[in-house]
Amino acid sequence: MQMNRIAMPLLVIMGMSEIDWQRQSPCYLIGDPGILGMPVWIKRDDLLHPQISGNKFRKLKYPLQALKHDAVRHGQRPCLVTMGGIWSNHLHATAYAAALSGYASVGLVRGVEGMTSATLEDCRAQGMQIHFVDRMTYRTLRDDPAVWPGLAGLAPDTEAVWLPEGGSAPSALHGVAELIDELPFIPDSIVVACGTAATMAGLLAGLKGRGRVTGIAVLNNAEYLHGEVARLLCQAGYPAYTNYQLHTNYHHGGYAKVTPSLRQFCDAFTVQSGVPVEPVYTGKALYALRELVHAGYFGVNERVLMLHTGGLQGGRGSLVTLS
Ligand SMILES: Cc1ncc(COP(=O)(O)O)c(C=O)c1O
Repeated sequence: MQMNRIAMPLLVIMGMSEIDWQRQSPCYLIGDPGILGMPVWIKRDDLLHPQISGNKFRKLKYPLQALKHDAVRHGQRPCLVTMGGIWSNHLHATAYAAALSGYASVGLVRGVEGMTSATLEDCRAQGMQIHFVDRMTYRTLRDDPAVWPGLAGLAPDTEAVWLPEGGSAPSALHGVAELIDELPFIPDSIVVACGTAATMAGLLAGLKGRGRVTGIAVLNNAEYLHGEVARLLCQAGYPAYTNYQLHTNYHHGGYAKVTPSLRQFCDAFTVQSGVPVEPVYTGKALYALRELVHAGYFGVNERVLMLHTGGLQGGRGSLVTLS
């Protein structure tokens, strides 16, 4: 039974007990091996919240909670400043989280003035100020948010709070790690889509060395994510867990690129399983999961769990490439 979450303040929702989470984000077996080639468990984090779905909810929990305490101390209104592309799930979730928390928000978007998308329209409707930055500035912002000149011009009663791309602050890992305690068992393998790899690092933190994580990179040239996993675990105060494999050859041409076969697979999976998936993140990870099953990657008795990281809104902008 779903609770009426819309009417509850965001931090109250985020502070719910483990039992409540199990109801909000069910974990069950897709017993029909048909489309994936073996029975696979699925954890439906896409159902966590109507707008702040999946890993965004987990990743924002502790950064927002910390803010609540800081804001009480400083007496200033927080203004969440973050970055993303025009279809970014993170921008979308941050805009809603800020509005629900009574905070201001600014989105620094890779692009040029005049660009728009359904995601940006939703963000603006939640009060997020959108500013476009060129590619070079965007890249620099990843390391140094202070390069954005508008930072100094924010309203004096607001305190700018920087959230990195994808919400992948080290403290984001704590929220993801909690997910492991909601599972009915420790899976032998958890399959997850990787963008910044913070979600994978959070899963490793929660697993504490048990089982393994199979990460599917959704962008090309993603070998550097090994370094990111190590960095994030270290900065969040966890041991340097290495019980994971990162697969870098299932990106279908690059970030947000979608081949016809991937699109067909996502549609067929949705029809057969009743689970909606988009082709940018979870769809790519599921596609890879099926390929890995066929390649004999998983043991016969292995209990495999797919983490549905939500982000269905971002699928509105996925491009189809021909190949
Ligand atoms: C829906 C969805 N799934 C998975 C990911 C990948 O998460 P991470 O960046 O933590 O690897 C993202 C991006 O942040 C996302 O929006």
